[in-house]
Order: sequence, then structure tokens, then C-alpha cells
Amino acid sequence: NTMLGITIAGIKMKTPVMTASGTFGFGLEYKDFVDLNKIGAVVVKGTTLLPRHGNQGRRIAETPAGMLNSIGLENPGVNEFLSGILPHLNAYDVPIIVNISGNTVEEYGELAALLNASGVDGLELNISCPNVKEGGIAFGTNCDSASAVVRQVKKNTDLPVIVKLSPNVTDIVAMAQSVEDAGADAISLINTLLGMSIDIHKWRPVLGNVVGGLSGPAVKPIAVRMVWQVAQSVKVPVIGMGGIVTAEDAVEFMLAGATAVAVGTANFINPCAAQTVAEGIESYIRQRGLSHVRELVGKVNI
Ligand code: DOR
Repeated sequence: NTMLGITIAGIKMKTPVMTASGTFGFGLEYKDFVDLNKIGAVVVKGTTLLPRHGNQGRRIAETPAGMLNSIGLENPGVNEFLSGILPHLNAYDVPIIVNISGNTVEEYGELAALLNASGVDGLELNISCPNVKEGGIAFGTNCDSASAVVRQVKKNTDLPVIVKLSPNVTDIVAMAQSVEDAGADAISLINTLLGMSIDIHKWRPVLGNVVGGLSGPAVKPIAVRMVWQVAQSVKVPVIGMGGIVTAEDAVEFMLAGATAVAVGTANFINPCAAQTVAEGIESYIRQRGLSHVRELVGKVNI
């Protein structure tokens, strides 16, 4: 598509609309409902060295404006991804970005090495999962730890490295600059915002893990603000996400400075959301008399 095609950190995409990690499984779960070839890129579920069962008890709660999750990185492990899943995904003409998560800096490095020449198109470093006891958000809320992860991964891979940031910080700009200095090729944000729901009949937390990550329309203004701040402060491209449901939502992120966007929670309601959003962006740029989606990026007038 001549109006929507973009390249981000060397990854060529037909549209700037990808699916956010964890909300689209490994992609194949959606193949009967969606034309995977029409998505900008598929970002697969957070993948770890060893298989994980995830957290105990209830793991999803709906709130009026969004969703709380405490999945805890359930996934079959990188070896099963490489041998059992990736060969099927590679039958589609869509870039595959693997979201990786480790308990230690070394584990991120090992994952990067294992995925390096595997046929995937990029890595997204998950230093922002709020639902695990080790790793996750612990890396993404400390600039030195975040940089150490990025440097270790860059040593072990030639793939483009996207770093996914947490909104659970006071200084998102300092974090973005740290990971850029450490070698990030792109920055994606936001992961989920820590939240909690309480069952007023049982006087108990709704989620088994007590707290979880909030996503969906509730977090969109927070995400737009963070994307705007980060996009002005770094040279690498920014991928914006957080509550995108419609093309208008995506346009907001692009005007704030996102080169690409990702649809997350909305996939649970409409599996075709990423495609619908991309089509809506095309109509929007046509109506505005523009010729390419890049003409929106960072164009908010302050
Ligand atoms: O909200 C999230 N949930 N963010 C992540 O990065 C991982 C996921 C999970 O598995 O808990």
C-alpha cells in the first residue's frame, strides 16, 4: 500500500498498525478470523526461555473503561515457539516480532541469541510486565537495569531491537533516553498500568494475583501523553499503543509522534481491529488530502 507502507527499525510493514503483544496470541490463533497478511506486524505473546504456566486464580477482570490482566507470562517457551509455532507463522507475508522476557539480564541475552537467525523479523524487549515476581517491571522501572538488558541483547543479536516501556514510572523521558543510549532501535509504549479491582460482595481482590495491568480506553490519554513526551526526546522511532480501538485513536498517537501503532485490548472485542484501524487511517489521510501516513507523525501543533 503506497499510502500506508512504512519501515521501522529496518522492518518493512504494509501498514503502520501492528498487534500488541499478548493480545493476539502467537498470531495463528487468529488465522481463521483475520487475514494475517493485512496486519503491519504481528508481535507475539511474551516468550521466555522455559515454558511458564502463568499466575494462579482469576487473571482477567473487565472494568467499565478497560481490562485488568495478571496473566504472568504464560507461554510455551522459546524452543516450542521456534520449532512448533514459527514455521507456521512464516507461511504468511507479515513481519513477526518476538516479545521476550527474562528473569535476569543473561536470560534476555540467551533469548536474543536463540532467536537471532531464526527467521523472525525483530525483537521487542519486555521490560515492563507488571505481573511477574522476577524480571518484568523490575527492569523497566530502573534506568540502569533497563540499559543493561538492552546492551546484553544488542551483543547477542543483529535483529532490530524494540524496547517496550512501562507507564509505571515517574520519568518516562529518562527511561526512553537510557534505552536509546544503550542501543535500542525503536521504543514501544505503553505496557499496562498497575491497577486493582475489589469484589464488594466477597471483600476480596478480583484478581488472584491481587494487582494487574490496566489496558484499553482507560489508559489512552496517559499513553498519548507519554508517546508525545518520548517522541520529542529520542531520535529512534516510537511505536504507540494504549487503548487504540478506532482509526481516530491511532491518528492521535501518530500526531503525538508515533511512527507506528499497535492495537491490543481491542483485539479481544474485534479480532480484525488492526485491519479496520489501518483502513480508517487510509480514509482519514485521503480526506485530509495527504498522500502518506508519515505526514501525520509528530504534527500536533503546540
Ligand atoms: O499486562 C501485561 N500482561 N503485560 C505484559 O507485559 C505481560 C502480560 C502478562 O503475561 O501478564
